[in-house]
Amino acid sequence: MTEKDFLPKAYTALPAEGKVTWKAPSNIALVKYWGKHPNQIPANPSISFTLDACATTTSVSFKKNSSKASQFSFDLYFEGKSKPDFKPKVNTFLERIEPYMPFLKEYQFTIETSNSFPHSSGIASSASGMAALALCLMDMERQMRSDMSQAEFNQKASFLARLGSGSACRSIEGDLIAWGRHAGIPKSSDLYGIKYPFEVNPVFKKYHDIILLVHKGQKQVSSTMGHNLMKGHPFAKERFQQAHQNLDRLRPILAQGALDDFIEVVESEALTLHAMMMTSAPYFILMKPDTLEIINKIWDFRSRAKTPVCFTLDAGANVHVLYPESTRQKVIQFIQDELVAHCENGQYICDRIGMGAKKITPKRE
Ligand code: DP6
Repeated sequence: MTEKDFLPKAYTALPAEGKVTWKAPSNIALVKYWGKHPNQIPANPSISFTLDACATTTSVSFKKNSSKASQFSFDLYFEGKSKPDFKPKVNTFLERIEPYMPFLKEYQFTIETSNSFPHSSGIASSASGMAALALCLMDMERQMRSDMSQAEFNQKASFLARLGSGSACRSIEGDLIAWGRHAGIPKSSDLYGIKYPFEVNPVFKKYHDIILLVHKGQKQVSSTMGHNLMKGHPFAKERFQQAHQNLDRLRPILAQGALDDFIEVVESEALTLHAMMMTSAPYFILMKPDTLEIINKIWDFRSRAKTPVCFTLDAGANVHVLYPESTRQKVIQFIQDELVAHCENGQYICDRIGMGAKKITPKRE
């Protein structure tokens, strides 16, 4: 597939008005995407667990204009309140996807969006937010075409979501998604995420992720700026190669359920991501003292309690604690006893591996 394959086929009549709602989950990368080329092309392949509880629900109401407008026309509401400061990001997204959805300027939109997680949690909502919006627009496009298969729908939704935020392309389906061309994964693409095509041991089908909210404030450096700093980064070439190697390493690990090796790859990826930040120019640190305290306590608990629990990080100070179903009681007790003290206001979110986005149909009266 190339970009051209996502240009629309002929539309049947455009609907006069309507409303669609989708709920899209967040995801947590095991092998990290960090560094990109123009047009949201990743510098290296990545793989993620789709989450379940952390999600964005977005409704798009649309009304056809009498003629095609010269600008996009939309109102934006976040958790019931008008949000003008979110508009530029959505406008950029619409500009990027317009070649693939030429009907966008034919409509007036009202976009209403809300997150399942607290607004100030410091959890990035761009993945779930862009995925939910892409799905709503795809749902509209599906109404204009009679011949769209489910596979085509998911693939184009992922393609569009990527243009909003790279990691969003991994938030359409579950439960393990690979994104980025990698020789060892047939049909993998830089343009969209695919379901991980190899054997996955049942232990990974019920994996948990508790997100410890260490620091809820605004990050000093955004992901977009961080990706840019991988250009000319002294370790970029080795890092991108390492991501390919880690994807190959994960294949037998995921098939066999080899948890010790899984932990080694996942934790190394998290620390490498932050090592890239610490060694870019300018350098920066997103971890906080409590992030390190938590990591040390997880290592200590793991060896003491012989329990296969591990951490990963995204581009921030919060810690994702990953563990299999069989260790659930023990790990929750450990978190309550030892880790909650390191969370801002004692806050954490319990999540688990999920199966992807869902269409929300209005309840009948
Ligand atoms: C560290 O997808 O947020 O979470 O494409 O600029 O929107 P943009 O970046 P974004 O980057 C995510 C980076 C990461 C790793 C990952 O999710 O793979």
